[in-house]
Amino acid sequence: MILAGAMVTLRPLQREDVPALVRWANDPLIVDLMDGGYPDTEAECLAWLEQLESSRQEKHFAILSPDRKLIGDIELDHICWRRFEAELRICIGDPAYWGHGFGTDAVTTLSWYAFKHLHLHTIFLRVYRDNSRAIRCYQKVGFRSVGRLVRNVRGVDREVYLMLLTPADLAARRSISLALAG
Ligand SMILES: CC(C)(COP(=O)(O)OP(=O)(O)OC[C@H]1O[C@@H](n2cnc3c(N)ncnc32)[C@H](O)[C@@H]1OP(=O)(O)O)[C@@H](O)C(=O)NCCC(=O)NCCS
Repeated sequence: MILAGAMVTLRPLQREDVPALVRWANDPLIVDLMDGGYPDTEAECLAWLEQLESSRQEKHFAILSPDRKLIGDIELDHICWRRFEAELRICIGDPAYWGHGFGTDAVTTLSWYAFKHLHLHTIFLRVYRDNSRAIRCYQKVGFRSVGRLVRNVRGVDREVYLMLLTPADLAARRSISLALAG
Protein backbone atom coordinates (compact mmCIF):
# COMPACT_ATOMS: atom_id res chain seq x y z
CA MET A 1 0.00 0.00 0.00
CA ILE A 2 1.39 3.40 -1.03
CA LEU A 3 -0.14 6.54 0.49
CA ALA A 4 0.34 9.87 -1.27
CA GLY A 5 0.31 12.97 0.92
CA ALA A 6 0.37 16.57 -0.27
CA MET A 7 4.19 16.53 -0.03
CA VAL A 8 5.41 13.16 1.23
CA THR A 9 4.82 9.60 0.08
CA LEU A 10 4.38 6.74 2.53
CA ARG A 11 5.40 3.29 1.34
CA PRO A 12 6.01 -0.02 3.14
CA LEU A 13 9.44 -0.37 4.75
CA GLN A 14 11.98 -2.41 2.80
CA ARG A 15 15.21 -4.24 3.66
CA GLU A 16 17.29 -1.47 2.07
CA ASP A 17 15.84 1.00 4.63
CA VAL A 18 17.51 -0.91 7.49
CA PRO A 19 20.87 0.98 7.59
CA ALA A 20 19.07 4.34 7.88
CA LEU A 21 16.66 3.04 10.55
CA VAL A 22 19.59 1.68 12.58
CA ARG A 23 21.53 4.92 12.15
CA TRP A 24 18.58 6.94 13.50
CA ALA A 25 18.03 4.45 16.35
CA ASN A 26 21.63 5.07 17.45
CA ASP A 27 21.57 8.87 17.10
CA PRO A 28 21.49 10.37 20.64
CA LEU A 29 19.49 13.37 19.39
CA ILE A 30 16.72 11.08 18.08
CA VAL A 31 16.84 8.71 21.06
CA ASP A 32 16.28 11.68 23.37
CA LEU A 33 13.12 12.74 21.48
CA MET A 34 11.49 9.33 21.00
CA ASP A 35 9.39 7.78 23.75
CA GLY A 36 10.58 4.19 23.37
CA GLY A 37 13.31 2.49 21.41
CA TYR A 38 13.66 1.12 17.91
CA PRO A 39 15.76 -1.96 17.04
CA ASP A 40 19.32 -0.62 17.10
CA THR A 41 21.29 -3.32 15.26
CA GLU A 42 20.86 -4.43 11.64
CA ALA A 43 20.12 -8.02 12.72
CA GLU A 44 17.39 -6.93 15.16
CA CYS A 45 15.96 -4.51 12.62
CA LEU A 46 15.77 -7.19 9.90
CA ALA A 47 14.03 -9.61 12.27
CA TRP A 48 11.59 -6.86 13.25
CA LEU A 49 10.85 -6.05 9.59
CA GLU A 50 10.08 -9.72 8.92
CA GLN A 51 7.60 -9.98 11.76
CA LEU A 52 5.94 -6.71 10.65
CA GLU A 53 4.78 -8.39 7.43
CA SER A 54 2.47 -10.79 9.28
CA SER A 55 1.51 -8.50 12.17
CA ARG A 56 -2.12 -7.37 12.44
CA GLN A 57 -1.28 -4.95 15.22
CA GLU A 58 1.16 -2.75 13.30
CA LYS A 59 1.20 -0.79 10.03
CA HIS A 60 4.57 0.69 9.30
CA PHE A 61 5.65 3.01 6.49
CA ALA A 62 8.76 4.73 5.20
CA ILE A 63 8.41 8.49 4.67
CA LEU A 64 9.77 9.74 1.34
CA SER A 65 10.46 13.42 0.65
CA PRO A 66 9.04 15.07 -2.50
CA ASP A 67 12.31 14.09 -4.26
CA ARG A 68 11.76 10.46 -3.11
CA LYS A 69 14.52 10.34 -0.50
CA LEU A 70 13.95 8.23 2.61
CA ILE A 71 13.66 10.77 5.44
CA GLY A 72 11.90 8.88 8.22
CA ASP A 73 9.33 6.33 9.25
CA ILE A 74 5.83 6.39 10.66
CA GLU A 75 3.64 3.69 12.16
CA LEU A 76 0.35 2.74 13.67
CA ASP A 77 1.20 0.41 16.54
CA HIS A 78 -0.85 -1.44 19.17
CA ILE A 79 -3.80 -1.51 16.79
CA CYS A 80 -6.79 -2.75 18.78
CA TRP A 81 -9.43 -3.90 16.31
CA ARG A 82 -12.03 -4.38 19.06
CA ARG A 83 -11.70 -0.83 20.34
CA PHE A 84 -10.89 0.65 16.90
CA GLU A 85 -7.82 2.48 18.17
CA ALA A 86 -4.08 2.61 17.56
CA GLU A 87 -0.95 4.45 18.68
CA LEU A 88 0.93 6.62 16.19
CA ARG A 89 4.70 7.09 16.19
CA ILE A 90 6.80 9.10 13.76
CA CYS A 91 10.46 9.83 13.30
CA ILE A 92 12.01 12.04 10.66
CA GLY A 93 15.60 10.93 11.15
CA ASP A 94 17.54 13.71 9.43
CA PRO A 95 17.19 17.10 11.19
CA ALA A 96 17.68 18.86 7.83
CA TYR A 97 14.12 17.75 7.02
CA TRP A 98 12.55 19.07 10.22
CA GLY A 99 10.33 22.14 10.13
CA HIS A 100 9.32 21.91 6.45
CA GLY A 101 5.82 20.55 7.00
CA PHE A 102 6.74 16.96 6.12
CA GLY A 103 5.85 15.64 9.59
CA THR A 104 2.43 17.30 9.57
CA ASP A 105 1.75 15.94 6.09
CA ALA A 106 2.87 12.39 7.02
CA VAL A 107 0.77 12.32 10.21
CA THR A 108 -2.26 13.74 8.39
CA THR A 109 -1.92 11.21 5.56
CA LEU A 110 -1.58 8.20 7.86
CA SER A 111 -4.46 9.42 10.03
CA TRP A 112 -6.82 9.70 7.03
CA TYR A 113 -5.82 6.18 6.03
CA ALA A 114 -6.43 4.91 9.57
CA PHE A 115 -9.91 6.43 9.75
CA LYS A 116 -11.08 5.92 6.18
CA HIS A 117 -9.58 2.55 5.27
CA LEU A 118 -8.90 0.82 8.59
CA HIS A 119 -12.08 2.29 10.13
CA LEU A 120 -10.35 3.20 13.38
CA HIS A 121 -12.14 5.66 15.68
CA THR A 122 -9.22 6.99 17.72
CA ILE A 123 -5.50 7.51 17.26
CA PHE A 124 -3.42 8.30 20.32
CA LEU A 125 0.23 9.14 20.81
CA ARG A 126 2.70 9.94 23.53
CA VAL A 127 5.12 12.87 23.29
CA TYR A 128 7.59 14.42 25.70
CA ARG A 129 6.31 17.75 26.98
CA ASP A 130 9.61 19.43 26.02
CA ASN A 131 9.35 18.25 22.36
CA SER A 132 7.67 21.50 21.24
CA ARG A 133 8.19 20.88 17.53
CA ALA A 134 6.41 17.52 17.70
CA ILE A 135 3.56 18.90 19.84
CA ARG A 136 3.03 21.76 17.40
CA CYS A 137 3.04 19.30 14.49
CA TYR A 138 0.42 17.08 16.18
CA GLN A 139 -1.74 20.09 17.09
CA LYS A 140 -1.70 21.22 13.46
CA VAL A 141 -3.13 17.82 12.48
CA GLY A 142 -5.86 18.14 15.12
CA PHE A 143 -4.51 16.11 18.06
CA ARG A 144 -5.45 17.40 21.51
CA SER A 145 -3.78 16.73 24.80
CA VAL A 146 -5.91 14.60 27.14
CA GLY A 147 -3.56 13.59 29.93
CA ARG A 148 -0.02 13.39 31.16
CA LEU A 149 2.28 11.02 32.93
CA VAL A 150 5.76 11.21 34.32
CA ARG A 151 8.32 8.66 33.19
CA ASN A 152 11.76 8.09 34.63
CA VAL A 153 14.12 7.97 31.64
CA ARG A 154 17.69 7.00 32.45
CA GLY A 155 17.39 8.51 35.92
CA VAL A 156 15.58 11.73 34.91
CA ASP A 157 11.83 12.35 35.40
CA ARG A 158 10.28 13.47 32.11
CA GLU A 159 6.71 14.59 31.54
CA VAL A 160 4.84 12.86 28.72
CA TYR A 161 1.61 14.15 27.13
CA LEU A 162 -1.01 11.73 25.90
CA MET A 163 -2.68 13.17 22.78
CA LEU A 164 -5.79 11.97 20.91
CA LEU A 165 -7.25 12.39 17.44
CA THR A 166 -10.72 11.42 16.21
CA PRO A 167 -12.08 11.70 12.66
CA ALA A 168 -14.01 14.83 13.76
CA ASP A 169 -10.79 16.45 15.10
CA LEU A 170 -9.02 15.75 11.82
CA ALA A 171 -11.90 17.04 9.69
CA ALA A 172 -12.20 20.21 11.80
CA ARG A 173 -8.49 20.97 11.42
CA ARG A 174 -8.72 20.39 7.69
CA SER A 175 -11.61 22.86 7.31
CA ILE A 176 -9.63 25.48 9.24
CA SER A 177 -6.59 24.97 6.98
CA LEU A 178 -8.72 25.16 3.83
CA ALA A 179 -10.45 28.33 5.11
CA LEU A 180 -7.07 29.95 5.90
CA ALA A 181 -5.67 28.95 2.49
CA GLY A 182 -8.71 30.12 0.57
C1 LIG B 1 8.33 15.68 15.29
C2 LIG B 1 8.42 15.66 13.78
C3 LIG B 1 7.72 14.43 13.24
C4 LIG B 1 7.69 16.90 13.23
O1 LIG B 1 7.83 16.91 11.84
P1 LIG B 1 8.32 18.28 11.12
O2 LIG B 1 8.29 18.04 9.67
O3 LIG B 1 9.60 18.71 11.72
O4 LIG B 1 7.14 19.25 11.59
P2 LIG B 1 6.35 20.34 10.75
O5 LIG B 1 7.33 21.16 9.96
O6 LIG B 1 5.25 19.69 10.01
O7 LIG B 1 5.70 21.22 11.92
C5 LIG B 1 6.52 21.69 12.97
C6 LIG B 1 5.92 22.92 13.60
O8 LIG B 1 6.63 23.19 14.81
C7 LIG B 1 7.19 24.49 14.74
N1 LIG B 1 8.46 24.41 15.46
C8 LIG B 1 9.67 24.07 15.00
N2 LIG B 1 10.57 24.12 15.98
C9 LIG B 1 9.90 24.47 17.09
C10 LIG B 1 10.27 24.69 18.44
N3 LIG B 1 11.53 24.51 18.84
N4 LIG B 1 9.30 25.06 19.31
C11 LIG B 1 8.02 25.24 18.92
N5 LIG B 1 7.61 25.03 17.64
C12 LIG B 1 8.55 24.65 16.76
C13 LIG B 1 7.34 24.79 13.27
O9 LIG B 1 7.44 26.18 13.06
C14 LIG B 1 6.05 24.17 12.74
O10 LIG B 1 4.93 24.95 13.05
P3 LIG B 1 4.30 26.04 12.03
O11 LIG B 1 3.98 25.30 10.75
O12 LIG B 1 3.09 26.55 12.74
O13 LIG B 1 5.35 27.08 11.80
C15 LIG B 1 9.91 15.68 13.29
O14 LIG B 1 10.50 16.92 13.63
C16 LIG B 1 10.72 14.54 13.90
O15 LIG B 1 10.56 13.40 13.51
N6 LIG B 1 11.59 14.86 14.87
C17 LIG B 1 12.49 13.88 15.47
C18 LIG B 1 11.82 12.72 16.20
C19 LIG B 1 10.62 13.14 17.01
O16 LIG B 1 10.64 14.10 17.76
N7 LIG B 1 9.55 12.37 16.86
C20 LIG B 1 8.32 12.56 17.60
C21 LIG B 1 8.38 11.83 18.89
S1 LIG B 1 6.83 11.93 19.76
